[in-house]
Amino acid sequence: MVQMTSPTFSRQDWLKGYETLKTEQAYWVDEVEGSIPSELEGTLFRNGPGQFDINGEEYGHPFDGDGMICAIAFKDGKAHFTNQFVQTPELLAEQKAGKILYRSVFGTQRSGGWLNNIFDVRIKNPANTSVVYHGGKLLSLCEVGLPYSLDSQNLQTLGVEDFGILPKDQPFTAHPRRDDRTGDLWCFGVKTGLQSTISIYRFTEQGKLSTESEVKVAGFCFLHDFVVTPNYRIFIQNPFKFKSVPFLLGFATAGACLELDPHKPSQILLVDRQGNLQTLDTESCFIFHHCNAYEEGDEIILDSVCYPDYLKAEPNSSFRDVDFSEIPCGHLYRFTINPKLGTVTRRLVLERSCEFPVVAPRCVGQKHRYTYLATIAKESEPAPFQAIAKVDLETGKHEIHNFAPRGFVGEPIFVPRDRRADSAEDDGWVLTLVFDGERNRSDLVVLDAQNIAGKPVAILHLKHHVPYGFHGSFTPNVF
Ligand code: CO
Repeated sequence: MVQMTSPTFSRQDWLKGYETLKTEQAYWVDEVEGSIPSELEGTLFRNGPGQFDINGEEYGHPFDGDGMICAIAFKDGKAHFTNQFVQTPELLAEQKAGKILYRSVFGTQRSGGWLNNIFDVRIKNPANTSVVYHGGKLLSLCEVGLPYSLDSQNLQTLGVEDFGILPKDQPFTAHPRRDDRTGDLWCFGVKTGLQSTISIYRFTEQGKLSTESEVKVAGFCFLHDFVVTPNYRIFIQNPFKFKSVPFLLGFATAGACLELDPHKPSQILLVDRQGNLQTLDTESCFIFHHCNAYEEGDEIILDSVCYPDYLKAEPNSSFRDVDFSEIPCGHLYRFTINPKLGTVTRRLVLERSCEFPVVAPRCVGQKHRYTYLATIAKESEPAPFQAIAKVDLETGKHEIHNFAPRGFVGEPIFVPRDRRADSAEDDGWVLTLVFDGERNRSDLVVLDAQNIAGKPVAILHLKHHVPYGFHGSFTPNVF
């Protein structure tokens, strides 16, 4: 007998989460199921594309959407929501002109075909990837350019932030890593071409930025994320080829001109505290996000989500028609690296499509037992992410909280109940935005991290939807 399985989602529901949110608002969340824990105090910031068209002219890819920041502040068992678009000069110019003026990284070209895009290598910075509060500044981040400073009280855009030392054209990562023991925030930026330069930056806890080291790497580099341990800054260079001709001639966006070479190894780049670079080969794979890394004896343990190939946006195709069974899936892997012996091994930890791995803040660069990620509702059934998983890396087991068939999840964020190091690593909450296709609105869901699969601690019903976002962060400061 043929086993019939019901699909975990409807495409119509899923696509509704990619509609522009037209409003900017600030309100108390008054529709709450369960109760917000009174110890949950601070602000969750999220960033992601919030607008997918200019005057009805659609962007070629949702990842090109204009950055919109959400802030959900928690205090005394109550929550307050605010959202604002990042007012970049490009967005303001496009809104004024009423049409698309810029090419974007993933899939957006100016109208008028290749003749209207030829030799234009300027790329719009959508400021849409992440948001972090550090050293008294709230920063909207996107690796295309410099961060934007925002007013932490009302999310209004203050302007481009160069910290007094960064060149105007310096790309700056959307994936900073905060070392909980020192309070330092580590960042990087990559200028790429035939040779790439990786600049590694350190912010002190007070927010003073300095360049810690600079390393040169042969060839094209697409480095979205990195990890830090007490002695190393670690990158994995995906074996990409960048076909510059179609991009320069205006036929294709930069993102569509990348190709993974499956016959070439990926390279682990270890930069030590003195700025020395050691390069080690591992299996060819594509990585957007790392989970965490730590040192154990002579070894470095690194957990990352690895894809067998890179999913590129084909020109003249729409993400709306994507066949989930045909796109490469990311799985969680553990790398064991021995810098002294120059060896690397890699093993599969979670064979289930997943993304956005996070750990408890105090585990960054230190040994972690648990990771939380967004995953699919049913193992081996390709679909958008509809569940949150907690993986126990000691036992190899995982548990999920499933929001299928009508809920679609984003990145989880772990918030400790108590920031002292002697509490259990998973004593706290997992916060995630869930788009509810039935009500066409989003919820902020609070899960008990020690009972992920159990009933949510609280479900905060927002008054509208929040389009699928990328990354965010939690700060104990209440804004
Ligand atoms: Co990212």
